[in-house]
Amino acid sequence: MKINVSLSRPIIIFFFTVFFVRTDFSQSSTKYQSADIEKKVADLLSKMTLDEKIGQLVQFSGDSGRAELVRKGKVGSFLNVRGANEVNMIQKVAVEESRLGIPLIMGNDVIHGYNTTFPIPLAEASSWNPELVTKAAKIAAWEASANGTHWTFAPMVDIALDPRWGRIAEGAGEDPYLGSVMAAAQVKGFQGDNFLNKNSIVACAKHFTAYGGAQGGRDYNSVDISERTLREIYLPPFQAAVESGAGTLMSAFNDLNGIPASANHFILTEILRNEWGFDGFVVSDWNSIAELINHGFAEDKKEAALKGITAGVDMDMAGDVEAGNVYLPNLKSLVESGELSEEIINKSAERILRIKYRSGLFDDPYVDSIYFAENIPSSEERNQTALQLSRESIVLLKNEGSLLPLKKELKSIAVIGPLADNQEDPLGPWSANPIVEDVVTALKGIQEKVSAGTIVAYAKGCTIDSSDTSDFNEAAEIARNSEVIIMVMGESRDMSGEAASRADINLPGVQLELIQKIYELGKPVVVVLMNGRPLTIEWIAENIPAVVESWFLGTQTGNAIADVLFGDFNPCGKLPVSFPRYVGQIPVNYNYKSTGRPYDDELKFTSRYIDYPNSPRYPFGFGLSYTEFKYSNLKLDKTKIKKNESVEASIEVMNAGSVSGKEVIQLYIKDLVASVTRPVKELKGFQKIELKPGETKTIEFVITPKMLSFLDVNLNETIEPGEFHVMIGGNSEELLKASFEIVE
Ligand code: NOJ
Repeated sequence: MKINVSLSRPIIIFFFTVFFVRTDFSQSSTKYQSADIEKKVADLLSKMTLDEKIGQLVQFSGDSGRAELVRKGKVGSFLNVRGANEVNMIQKVAVEESRLGIPLIMGNDVIHGYNTTFPIPLAEASSWNPELVTKAAKIAAWEASANGTHWTFAPMVDIALDPRWGRIAEGAGEDPYLGSVMAAAQVKGFQGDNFLNKNSIVACAKHFTAYGGAQGGRDYNSVDISERTLREIYLPPFQAAVESGAGTLMSAFNDLNGIPASANHFILTEILRNEWGFDGFVVSDWNSIAELINHGFAEDKKEAALKGITAGVDMDMAGDVEAGNVYLPNLKSLVESGELSEEIINKSAERILRIKYRSGLFDDPYVDSIYFAENIPSSEERNQTALQLSRESIVLLKNEGSLLPLKKELKSIAVIGPLADNQEDPLGPWSANPIVEDVVTALKGIQEKVSAGTIVAYAKGCTIDSSDTSDFNEAAEIARNSEVIIMVMGESRDMSGEAASRADINLPGVQLELIQKIYELGKPVVVVLMNGRPLTIEWIAENIPAVVESWFLGTQTGNAIADVLFGDFNPCGKLPVSFPRYVGQIPVNYNYKSTGRPYDDELKFTSRYIDYPNSPRYPFGFGLSYTEFKYSNLKLDKTKIKKNESVEASIEVMNAGSVSGKEVIQLYIKDLVASVTRPVKELKGFQKIELKPGETKTIEFVITPKMLSFLDVNLNETIEPGEFHVMIGGNSEELLKASFEIVE
């Protein structure tokens, strides 16, 4: 029986049109192309002086005191200029007072919302709901464009296997497939079908590339990986973003195999432009071209500029010239001395102008506040989207004895912890222009959820990060007098994000001590975590009966948490990244290789630690529900296929509990023997469905040749005969398995 499950549809569409059928790639990457625009770009370029072309390649932070530069055509873009009036004022100078009237493109970091703050991207990925992520990005685009932003430095699509790296918060976690789905979903939301719309913004996939591979998880650190790892793990989400039409990319800070990413011709030109056909532009990360000097890759700013532009970085992002913009002061003399061909400048200017035309800036350079006032989605719609995405981002990690959901009619509840009555930290590390007063705290959400007769007592207990235990007794006191204790613990927002790597990923400060003290009272304790990365929570996972991972959820934090705690929403989030037990296990990703001595905890000479198991505390794809999903009857329509054929897999999923719930059904594949060793499993698809109590659905996946292919020893895509395992289930460890064979 074929069941049409509405939520699964978009995923299947992505599946075939975006990720797996490379012949469609040219169609999607060129969907914004037009001969008319190309002609306009060429005409304009032919009228531009060298100075004006270089001007397009320059981006500064903040416009104050820069009107004269704009008038002279020496700036193509600003970042960090916000607000309709401010943008319109400086835009007027560009459009009406400069010789050619080329509009500025205004960029900002709109990472997970503008005013309405959505969950951090790692949390959004936990929803495994690309449709909802697209909807959130669309709302962010509305709010940002109403405030004069034309271009967002998002999505951040860096794969991250190392939770010490603070920027893991900004991406979709450890898996290239889920990362690709989320990348495409965000690009679609920001740019819309046509980024000409007043309410769309140009996307920027960053940080190109392999920035998440920083050695030791230390931000900005070098990355040394094989081209295979680059292509198999780090590049797919970028390619998905490009295939979805992302107008721009940002080059990364890191050194990649000895060549800094911001001067890396191989990735910026050979792969991005020549292989993928990208025709948008690349902006550097902040100062990353000037930093070629620190890398020991350029002797001075002039050489840095030469290396950046010839590698393929079109626009130089920096505070200003003093703070490291190297294009404005150096490109002209490089051309005049013959060291740099003007043709390279022309190409970069052309790419930037192309995106300015495509995004409608020439026709519509100003913010039309009346249009926004009349058309922007209602605050109700914005908040509802944020609430739904927040609910779906929450991952229930443990629920012993079905402690959750709690009854709203409890007599008394103690709410404890430094994140419970906190409006700032739930905004996460990258909120754009949040309205802090709008953030619903966990405490408020709980207070509003419980019955009129329930007493909710609150004590902070400790701060996030200090060693002060003087408030422990007050917390213990309210806990002693309450039926249930909810502890809201975690990290501050500045402990993840940029320049926020941690060598110790336990709960900071004395928070664990406080949890242990409260636990000793022998009352039911629920721990709600707020954090920007997987934490090591061994003691909590062993001892506390109910653990809820809420990440940083933004504006609707408390409402979403209360909905989950009190059963108004059945949790359905699944981890987009594995949780290690100990920091020494990192990386602990699910898609490892089996090795010549596969792990066996009873055999010494196998790939293992002698002190702890290899397994993560919580695996990739894991998340509990208030109901139980039973998987059965995994079937394949064929057991032998030819290389160019597909296999259909079907599985029955039943809701065996007493409440409705959503489940993410995950498809993993393993190629058993190949000419290059393959991971023990790789995620190749998923569907999110909803089942009523007692309901069973048959879910189908089409396993295409593309999903069975890999890069051979020469990095050419190939499919080899032999046996394949198909594994389907609710997380990367609990899976039903079937197999088929590809025959010659
Ligand atoms: C540096 C960050 O690495 C990048 O992600 C961000 O977009 C820029 N700064 C601009 O704020």
